Amino acid sequence: MQNDTLRPPATRIAGVGSALPARVLTNADLAAMVDTSDEWIVSRTGIEERRIAADGECTSDLAERAARAALGDAGLTPDDIDLIVLATATPDNTFPSTAVSVQHRLGITRGAAFDVAAVCSGFVFAMTTADALIAQGLAKRALVIGAETFSRILDWEDRTTCVLFGDGAGAVVLEAAEGAGTDKPRGLIAACLRSDGAHKDKLYVDGGPSSTQTVGHLRMRGQEVFRFAVSATVDVVEDVFAKAEMSADDIDWFVPHQANKRIIDSSAKKLGIAPEKVILTVQKHGNTSAASIPLALAAAAEDGRIKRGDVVLLEAMGGGFTWGAVLVRW
Ligand code: UT7
Repeated sequence: MQNDTLRPPATRIAGVGSALPARVLTNADLAAMVDTSDEWIVSRTGIEERRIAADGECTSDLAERAARAALGDAGLTPDDIDLIVLATATPDNTFPSTAVSVQHRLGITRGAAFDVAAVCSGFVFAMTTADALIAQGLAKRALVIGAETFSRILDWEDRTTCVLFGDGAGAVVLEAAEGAGTDKPRGLIAACLRSDGAHKDKLYVDGGPSSTQTVGHLRMRGQEVFRFAVSATVDVVEDVFAKAEMSADDIDWFVPHQANKRIIDSSAKKLGIAPEKVILTVQKHGNTSAASIPLALAAAAEDGRIKRGDVVLLEAMGGGFTWGAVLVRW
């Protein structure tokens, strides 16, 4: 039966790029700072190391580098861009958006640029937003960026959170698809987005301009987040498969949010996705929130795993709670 919510892709991915700070923080480094061990971190999360932004290196710096890399990969210049949607929970300033800083540094003076706040699900929300705006004819070619400096909101004395996160940025260029002509057109096939604020106290930052007039630190009830993450992932992926009339057998790659290898393994198993289809970067990057999916996409595209025509499933869950999934033919 034909699914009437399914339309030909409005947008396709034209390029991907990423940026990481130079400084590597290993588990051994952390064991010298708090009461933890490499063995505990690796066995509970899969994380071996993460990158930490240098003093003065901001989210916008990483975002700009990732954006330029994605433009280079697409063979485009900033003049070709008329929309920037940037997902972050660690903006340079409360306002203006980090997106307008990136827009200005790229020398773009047309179109629009704004940030999206959906924490670890931010990239999936940003990509779906850019796709919808292009589908509506409001823009032709977008930079969709996930960029974070979570090191700035960590409590470095709290071993239950400070070992989990890292800094980085990734970006894709999303452009209007050129219409049909093939039964398997490249582009964004289907998306599902969700949120439920009933869970807002399980993963949050204990500060903000309106409440405390401080930036605050990240706080998390890890086990509760863990349990929700697996069931939310399975639900939203099943929904996006149903929308696209596809199944786990139809995908070439699963690129989940990289929070914890145990969450990824368990979700993939429940969904019937073979381990060799799963892209994993959590061991090298830790949890980079909105940056984790585009960082993983860039790694797998650069090393030749993700190729043109491959069906790629993106999925994320994070603070809010928010969660979502996107299916794209690369
Ligand atoms: O990106 C958004 C989504 N975020 C996530 O998906 C994170 C979800 N949660 C998790 O990944 C896991 O819950 C954690 C990795 C955060 C924790 O793993 P866990 O298996 O749930 O451990 P736990 O919280 O049950 O803690 C087990 C023990 C505790 O000690 P006791 O009470 O058993 O004596 C903790 O105090 O491990 C202790 N512990 C640590 N020990 C060494 C907690 N953190 C550490 C640490 N090093 N860093």
